Amino acid sequence: MTIRKLYYGDNCEVIPKHVKPDSIDLVYLDPPFNSAADYNLLFKENGLSPDEAQLHAFKDTWIWDIPAAEVYHEIQNIDNARLIDLINALMAAFGKTPMMAYLVHMAFRLDLIHRSLKPTGSLYLHCDPKASHYLKMVLDSIFGPTMFRSEIIWRRTGAHNKSKRWSPLHDVILFYTKSDVFTWNKPRQSYMNGHVKEHFKPDGKGGWRTDYYGNVLTGSGTRGGLSGKPWKGIDPTAKGRHWAIPGEIWAEVGIDPEGLDQHQKLDLLYDEGFITIDPDAAWPMYEMAVRPGQGPAIGDIWAYQPYTEGTVFGSKTGIDDDVRWLGTRDQERLGYPTQKPVGLLKRIISASSNKGDVVMDPFCGCGTTIEASEILERQWIGIDISPFAIQLIRRRRIEGAFPHLKFGKDYQVDGLPTSMTGAKDLAAQDKKAFEVWAVSAIDGIPNPKKGADGGIDGKLKFKPDGKVAKHAIVSVKGGALKADDIRALIAVVDREKTTSMGFGVMVTLNPPTAKMRADATAAGFHEIAGAKYQKVQFVTVQDILEGKKPRLPFPELPDVFKKADVATHAGLDV
Ligand SMILES: C[S@@+](CC[C@H](N)C(=O)[O-])C[C@H]1O[C@@H](n2cnc3c(N)ncnc32)[C@H](O)[C@@H]1O
Repeated sequence: MTIRKLYYGDNCEVIPKHVKPDSIDLVYLDPPFNSAADYNLLFKENGLSPDEAQLHAFKDTWIWDIPAAEVYHEIQNIDNARLIDLINALMAAFGKTPMMAYLVHMAFRLDLIHRSLKPTGSLYLHCDPKASHYLKMVLDSIFGPTMFRSEIIWRRTGAHNKSKRWSPLHDVILFYTKSDVFTWNKPRQSYMNGHVKEHFKPDGKGGWRTDYYGNVLTGSGTRGGLSGKPWKGIDPTAKGRHWAIPGEIWAEVGIDPEGLDQHQKLDLLYDEGFITIDPDAAWPMYEMAVRPGQGPAIGDIWAYQPYTEGTVFGSKTGIDDDVRWLGTRDQERLGYPTQKPVGLLKRIISASSNKGDVVMDPFCGCGTTIEASEILERQWIGIDISPFAIQLIRRRRIEGAFPHLKFGKDYQVDGLPTSMTGAKDLAAQDKKAFEVWAVSAIDGIPNPKKGADGGIDGKLKFKPDGKVAKHAIVSVKGGALKADDIRALIAVVDREKTTSMGFGVMVTLNPPTAKMRADATAAGFHEIAGAKYQKVQFVTVQDILEGKKPRLPFPELPDVFKKADVATHAGLDV
């Protein structure tokens, strides 16, 4: 069965429990640099800028606390002396700092992730230049230093003016493999138009032909046998080389050379007009038509260059347009502050996996990796500690972009309630997670605050006059419901009257008593467009599980839940 699985939970618990060792082909992870379980910075309607989010999270979350000390001690038991020595050395150098809290958190998880990779698996760790050098050491100690493949510089933004330093524009993506045998699909980019004009010649039919460099038909070093023997008077051995025709050439010219020896292959290309021999040139010339996407190998600097539209051969887009960052008003944006572009993930997944492979994103956020994997026909596993992220992926990424995938049948979600027992368990286990789940299940935006929230667990958007947005106040009760709770909600709703219009919704695990319902009814009604709406209403968890929503005048989905377009298959598919 095709694996399409979302897990709500901490990846350090989900991976050992649900992901078999040696089972994953490709991992991409984009951990929050600064926030671990920070549910929801994420919920400001139009999204926070990544910087705002990072800053906020840094202050909030990365501190050397008891959980950090516990992880530090757990690392001492990992069967990897090099990792233990490294962490202890870093600890000696930096002490109990936020950075060390972050590093022990990451080291522990990277070790688990490494175990989950197949022996042929690859890992891409997306991180920030402030911590990438430490993470590289951690990865060296887990994968082995020789398993480091690339440090990719990805341009993540247009401009950032910082005083007295170069504008920080890039993220770092570290690429490691578990062994020397791994999938590599030789990603290539298109030539620049300027390069084509400089190095190639018009083919007389509106296109361009390469004049391949002389030795494209040869490989370095001498060989015995026919590949070392002269062809048409040209002796490769005399020049320290041998005849070797690259496999791509056959795909390009559309000929299957199977069964032919090296000289017959050269003859065939010559007869078909792909090779010319110039007596003044050192080597026979191979020529082929220049095509988009058949230029040089893609390097490790991925930097979209604005205003370079039309400079890339065969395309109207700009340089590295397929991995361009998401602008503030980008169509692709879901309002999730740290969202990465699908194009970036498509490039990584295309290069380092094949159709049907299993891709895992253990910090999957709003599911960029999931969408790219599905487009490229890979299997996928996404894990996130935010129930909102998981619901967002379900609604926006899956239901929006891949409506043919059916929940429960084609893809599964683990860890979020689908029954009363599940809801009770979540409420008992993590009050905030329960609140976030309940609010987002009724199309609300949860309150990111974890502690005192002024009686507001979330807000529901509606437009009573069809124009101006208002927000009903949501209060969630996962434990015993008291009469005072209704009175408290009515007080908050009154306090916030300008934005709430007096509307409030009480979400409860346990059904309210008749007296509580009467108190809510006593708060009154609004008559809008000929219909009557109760100002304060109840929605039970049972209602949520049955798909019921609160009754509000002209409710609106928050932008973040609006459905994405059905995904297209454009891009660098392999
Ligand atoms: C930087 S965001 C990932 C964004 C993602 N690449 C995207 O394009 O949407 C990091 C995510 O990791 C999640 N997270 C943080 N700690 C986690 C943990 N221990 N286990 C699972 N997810 C975690 C956060 O909730 C957040 O959604």
